[in-house]
Amino acid sequence: MRFDVMTLFPGLVEGVLGESIIGRARKAGIIELHTHNIRDFSTDKHRKTDDTPFGGGVGMVMSCQPIYDCFMNIKAELPEGKTKVLYMSPKGRTFSHGVARELSEYDNVVILCGHYEGVDQRVIDLIVDDEISIGDYVLTGGEIPACIVIDAVSRLKDGVLSSSECYENESVASGILEYPQYTKPRSFMGLDVPEVLLSGDHKKIDRWRLEEAVKLTRERRPDLLLQHPEIEESLLPKKKKRKYKKTDLEQRDEF
Ligand SMILES: C[S@@+](CC[C@H](N)C(=O)[O-])C[C@H]1O[C@@H](n2cnc3c(N)ncnc32)[C@H](O)[C@@H]1O
Repeated sequence: MRFDVMTLFPGLVEGVLGESIIGRARKAGIIELHTHNIRDFSTDKHRKTDDTPFGGGVGMVMSCQPIYDCFMNIKAELPEGKTKVLYMSPKGRTFSHGVARELSEYDNVVILCGHYEGVDQRVIDLIVDDEISIGDYVLTGGEIPACIVIDAVSRLKDGVLSSSECYENESVASGILEYPQYTKPRSFMGLDVPEVLLSGDHKKIDRWRLEEAVKLTRERRPDLLLQHPEIEESLLPKKKKRKYKKTDLEQRDEF
């Protein structure tokens, strides 16, 4: 999968996505990342990339020309395939695991990062397919949001993590929050690892993990359990589950 990032600060993106798991995925050729400095495309003699807003107001607005030319340059070199152009913006739809999954289906994702007061609306109208926000707060630029999107999407691609289980069982992706994790030593500052995790009984361990995950989700994100009632129901004894279904059907038959 290929990502192209249009930015005034390529170093911000390269720094974050050059290390660790994504850095390795890039070296392995699973993820391709190209950063493009918008300033390199400015035709202004001082390489200006922004100007004051029409109508007045504070701050500077990023101009159309350098962004448009930068995009045209990327477009000319993009390989064939499903392509999506994003603008990172607090006005966009909120990023989530679902949106990450959706984007992971594309071959090429081009991302425009704004700065200052944002970007001239005309260039957004001309080149952007979708606006994505990473949450209800305002950052100084779109580079950190772009890195978040690229990281979350990349780890869904085959070969980036050691196994798809790594993300399928994780918080939110699995439908609920993940159970607590422990590693060696067995005891730390008087706190012991739950006994069941040392039992070697994988049925019991799976059950304990599911119970803990449901408990945590009920406390912190009850909305997730409402979306996935079957997860909590799977903890009920089999007899109870059958009885529940039977009553449910009987009730429906009465109508
Ligand atoms: C200071 S912000 C501009 C905010 C703009 N004036 C507004 O009120 O919508 C500068 C840039 O940071 C990025 N940005 C800021 N907050 C963001 C968020 N929550 N999600 C995605 N991008 C964001 C966008 O690219 C934006 O163009």
